[in-house]
Amino acid sequence: MCGIIGYIGNREATDVLIDGLKRLEYRGYDSAGIAVLNGHGIEVERAEGKLSHLEAKIHKHKPKGHIGIGHTRWATHGVPSERNAHPHHVEDVVVVHNGIIENYSQLRKELIQKGCHFKSETDTEIFCHLINEELKKTKEIQKAIANALKKVRGAYAIVVLYAKEPHKLYVAKLGSPLVLGFGKKENFVASDVPALLPYTREVAYLEDGEFAVVSDGSLNVVDSHGHPVTKKKTHIAWDALMAEKGGYKHFMLKEIFEQPRVVEQTIMGRIQLGSTQLTLEGIPKLFGATGFPFKQVAILACGTSWHAGMVAKYWFEQLARVPTTVHLASEFRYANPLIDSKTLVISISQSGETADTLAATQLAKQKKAKVLAICNVLGSSLTRASNATLYTHAGPEIGVASTKAFVSQMTVLYLLTLEMASRKKIMSKEELLTKMEEIRKLPQNLETVLQKADAIKKIAKECVNASHFLFIARGLQYPVALEGALKLKEISYVHAEGFAAGELKHGPIALVDKGVPVVALIPPSETYEKILSNVEEVKARGAFVIAVGEKGDEELEEKADAVIGLPKTVYSLTPILYAVPLQLFAYYIADFKGTDVDQPRNLAKSVTVE
Ligand code: M6R
Repeated sequence: MCGIIGYIGNREATDVLIDGLKRLEYRGYDSAGIAVLNGHGIEVERAEGKLSHLEAKIHKHKPKGHIGIGHTRWATHGVPSERNAHPHHVEDVVVVHNGIIENYSQLRKELIQKGCHFKSETDTEIFCHLINEELKKTKEIQKAIANALKKVRGAYAIVVLYAKEPHKLYVAKLGSPLVLGFGKKENFVASDVPALLPYTREVAYLEDGEFAVVSDGSLNVVDSHGHPVTKKKTHIAWDALMAEKGGYKHFMLKEIFEQPRVVEQTIMGRIQLGSTQLTLEGIPKLFGATGFPFKQVAILACGTSWHAGMVAKYWFEQLARVPTTVHLASEFRYANPLIDSKTLVISISQSGETADTLAATQLAKQKKAKVLAICNVLGSSLTRASNATLYTHAGPEIGVASTKAFVSQMTVLYLLTLEMASRKKIMSKEELLTKMEEIRKLPQNLETVLQKADAIKKIAKECVNASHFLFIARGLQYPVALEGALKLKEISYVHAEGFAAGELKHGPIALVDKGVPVVALIPPSETYEKILSNVEEVKARGAFVIAVGEKGDEELEEKADAVIGLPKTVYSLTPILYAVPLQLFAYYIADFKGTDVDQPRNLAKSVTVE
């Protein structure tokens, strides 16, 4: 949440800051601002709303200078407005911040008593005043910032610009992500890697408690005790183009269409033709050379990643016979969970920066569980907090609605299922080989699913005016139904709910009325007949039924108002295919409605506050 960028070098800072903020806008987009040191003093420009408003504002008068900081905001304290937009500026100190200062009310009261005058309602402005107060005691800005930080409680990633030291950026982090970018005679700092990709792919992640002083020629980092730290550089394989729209109307649509390639990347090098041997990095070290040393698995995640975890529960229990619980990370922390050193905790997160998932993971570690991360972002906080990581290799996901991350997470979790089943010797060689063969067919099958896009668009058009949608499924497909409803809610702002189809008659069927669209996921399975009965029940009450099932299923053609026929695969892999038409359905409905698909209202890509 909130995007931060800082630059020092020979380029026009404003250009780098605006470009970086564009690439970070998915993190928050209710206001934006930049501050540049122009050789005479500090120039701050801010605007309410999207970054384009700021761009329009500075179009005729662009701040000039070679050092600056920028911010795109997702409001936590204070309404979205220009005066609450970052950077915040008091005397010679300018600050951008991501995170939440928990003791802000108390600090604000104390500062007001000391005579400080607040211009905004934000918790961030506290930093400016605290630093200025400290500067009354010490002339050293670094010390003043460090002392100010000791007074705040909560999470922060901050970058400070100080007019009296015009060749340095001061950077600190606790809980919220920050990455340093290494250039030639220029350096960068940002909340996330995409902002840096046009300039450098050599990065280092700042750790909690670390403090960096960034100039054009150096990046000096100290730990929380003031001891110098040598940061290890990470080379990012993504390029800037991967984070651009590539001719698609929205990032979300591009990311949906990337899924066949993504799955190819996810499985690449991990399975081999004709072999039952999987190569999953870090697993032999975590599990041991043979066998499966854990009594149970506990999965921690939020949102779409939680849905991937729910699918994995079915796989782990039914295919690998491993008892599994799935937890919303935000609830797990307060549930006194029953986990111990015999528990394998699997934390799933696209970004690796979700505050709730990170906090839950920390708790799991305190309870001595071993943690395996399933993550998309190299070197992110989650991967650093875990004992091992299986990367999803989905490439940068920019659309706020998660699509390719979901499919790649499920793919990794399926591979992990086979690894567990194989280690526990409960799946025959033949079955393992069949399943691996089906995994290998996934990219092609996903291509075939994507060819349904136009047909799905037509169905979406028929439903565009509906104000309630139900998604029903059973077993393995139930989490996919939840995910379909989440996609629709978050980008088209209509009411949508996912239900286990057998539960309909225990209450939700009361929502069904004439014309209410009901999306039913009906792959061939042992519950096929049962869910067909559920379809009859909703049809009898006037629902418009959209069935997603196997291509050529005549029964579905007969019973449903619209059918999306998908390629045949083994039942256990159907969630990966069946998720995609629901993404397209949500996308087209949102696009017909004209909502902001990539940056839906009230949301942000990375939820870095609890
Ligand atoms: O980065 P993470 O996977 O940890 O993010 C978790 C959720 O915030 C995320 O999946 C969210 O629900 C998406 N907007 C859903 O599309």
